[in-house]
Amino acid sequence: MNYAIVYSSQTGNTRRLAEHAREVLGEKGCDFVGAPSDEGCLEALRAADVVLLGSWTDKGAISAELAPALPALVGKRVFLFGTCGFGGSDAYFSGVLDRFASALPEGAEVVGRFMCQGQMPPSVRERYVRMAEKDPGRFAPMIENFDRAVGHPDEGDLAALTTALEAAGLA
Ligand SMILES: Cc1cc2nc3c(=O)[nH]c(=O)nc-3n(C[C@H](O)[C@H](O)[C@H](O)COP(=O)(O)O)c2cc1C
Repeated sequence: MNYAIVYSSQTGNTRRLAEHAREVLGEKGCDFVGAPSDEGCLEALRAADVVLLGSWTDKGAISAELAPALPALVGKRVFLFGTCGFGGSDAYFSGVLDRFASALPEGAEVVGRFMCQGQMPPSVRERYVRMAEKDPGRFAPMIENFDRAVGHPDEGDLAALTTALEAAGLA
């Protein structure tokens, strides 16, 4: 099996998942790990049997940075993965993954998916604290969510990703 991992990651959370997936799947058959704008990406996607497509969550959707890679996924088996700031609910993760999947071209087959929480920059918490002074009902839960996200993806998330890759028959 030849595979490629293409991902979009602004602050490193989704990159951590991509690097873990690469470790789990191994060097053999790995044609590419990187961003869509990296040299050789599109050629590797076209040649791959399986593509692992990872994204951070940007306003509920897959990162626009991945758009150039998506047309190359026609006829490919795709494992979708990503990180998002809000956590604590599988239903939320599943909804985000559904939106990621809706960005795929017709003819791409999703063989597995994984989503976990990813920590956010401290500036976000500072903004929530300022907003909570005016509207604590709305922003205190967001501060709690921010604090829950710190340290994610963690070892438990990486182990869960391994399990999802195994369930998809990739590892
Ligand atoms: C502009 C922007 C929009 C975001 N929108 C969402 C969102 O709609 N839902 C969510 O759960 N997280 C959202 N996040 C949080 C990131 O998706 C999350 O921190 C992710 O783990 C970042 O991954 P990265 O480190 O790979 O870039 C947003 C972050 C930014 C900067």
